[in-house]
Amino acid sequence: MKKEAILQVNGIYKSFGVVKALKDVSVSFLPGEIHGLIGENGSGKSTLSSIISGIYSCDQGEMILEGKVYKPTSIMDGEKHGICMIVQEMGTIGGITVAANVFAGKEELFSRLGIVNRKAMNRAAQEALDKIGASYIKAENKIDEESFENRKIVEIARAMFNDVKVLIIDETTTALSQKGRELIYQIMNRLKDENKVVIFISHDLDELTEHCNTVTVLRDGVYIKTLYGEEIQPDVMRQLMIGREVQDNYYRDDYEDYRGGEDVITMEDVCTEGGLKHVSFTLKKGEILGIGGLTDSGMHDLGRTVFGLEKCEKGSVYLSSSGEKIQSPQKAIRHKIGYVSKNRDKESILNQSNIMDNICLPSYDKIRQGIYIAPKAERNLAQQESDVLKIKMSSLKQLCGQLSGGNKQKVALAKWLGNDSDILILDCPTRGIDVGVKAAIYKLMDDYRKEGKSILMISEELPELIGMSDRILILKDGMVTKEFKRSRELTESEAIKYMI
Ligand SMILES: Nc1ncnc2c1ncn2[C@@H]1O[C@H](COP(=O)(O)OP(=O)(O)OP(=O)(O)O)[C@@H](O)[C@H]1O
Ligand SMILES: [Mg+2]
Repeated sequence: MKKEAILQVNGIYKSFGVVKALKDVSVSFLPGEIHGLIGENGSGKSTLSSIISGIYSCDQGEMILEGKVYKPTSIMDGEKHGICMIVQEMGTIGGITVAANVFAGKEELFSRLGIVNRKAMNRAAQEALDKIGASYIKAENKIDEESFENRKIVEIARAMFNDVKVLIIDETTTALSQKGRELIYQIMNRLKDENKVVIFISHDLDELTEHCNTVTVLRDGVYIKTLYGEEIQPDVMRQLMIGREVQDNYYRDDYEDYRGGEDVITMEDVCTEGGLKHVSFTLKKGEILGIGGLTDSGMHDLGRTVFGLEKCEKGSVYLSSSGEKIQSPQKAIRHKIGYVSKNRDKESILNQSNIMDNICLPSYDKIRQGIYIAPKAERNLAQQESDVLKIKMSSLKQLCGQLSGGNKQKVALAKWLGNDSDILILDCPTRGIDVGVKAAIYKLMDDYRKEGKSILMISEELPELIGMSDRILILKDGMVTKEFKRSRELTESEAIKYMI
């Protein structure tokens, strides 16, 4: 017997000005589906999810939820109907507690005569966190003190508090460590067993193959195909997304004995408030130095510290040649050091500025003639970098905030590639980037290395670390536990041993 769809979207259209984000998209979501939604950056995945969850309304088309017309007026209204979404970007509200985030918009559950009973709210929020296996997050804490990862988990606790029929997870797992991912997979499987629907967006084809029983492909806002069960295979998905055959060997293939150039940056015996404990290493000319570990290992702190965003309580970071210390981002930029943060919206790009300004920002010294900045030089630089990374945009003047997640990430990278940095610190560089462009980014990194520049690559993706690095340092509890040299024999499980 054919199952009745829980949710059906029929003939959906959505435009943003001249951009046609969705064109006549129809998909059925059946009970017990972990339904992958895939497509290149800018293909319309987040737009479709936002329409389903009530963030946007569609221009044309209709949705049917359990046999009835469903037309949510807001995300709260969507939640009331049992449709919840973990958004691609940060979805929590700053300045309030974890508990207040779990129950934002639902304070009436805990209020009498207009006064919110904080204690009861904290208790309920802690229960919600405990229930999803995240008791290590404390409900009464200020949300701002929580890591990016934990804030994502708080969003999940919020979603799961509702009676969820459809849970949408938009490109969240790549921002999480293994622990966070496991937590999400468990929740997905639980919902599947309860005959609910999970709509799962990811660019990680192995992850999709492992966890989804259904996958729908979008290309340029158009529905392409739905795959079931055994049909879900990485090369099939890759071809459907991009529309042509693409190779899957993205990484560099040289393994010759690496000797390394001279030292360019030294971190010496550094301790930080963020949790680094006596960390020492040098980054060499012409090398990609990988940094791996669990999310709270201090790996993200390490990048911030090298860029001068975080203060050394002990020890220092200095240019190996002159001994000059790097204590601020201004100084780092002056010495041609670039930094792409994991926290894209907060630290990497200006969402309220346009693409051109974002890309040119660190390069004004390069393009200025005296005090004059020629608009043409600015445009050329931005155009050139956007072409290299295939940024999908309506024009260079489009606001960054309007770009799809992966395209924002490309702007964050373009900005530093454009300014001829000698040293790049890349924290989760390919987060949210589709398979087609991922290969281009790895190629750029490899070319960069061959030009004698250096990359410090912090990553939670082990295949990427192993595939691209000349050396890998593994961090655990703020300390370096192991150094690996580039080798064909190095496996993920070998690296993980030193992380946990
Ligand atoms: N608020 C907006 N204003 C203008 N254009 C938008 C807006 N939101 C999305 N778009 C455009 O709609 C198209 C689809 O974007 P969407 O965010 O749905 O892509 P996506 O498939 O989620 O991509 P990614 O994998 O990069 O997250 C893109 O061209 C994007 O620039
Ligand atoms: Mg998206």
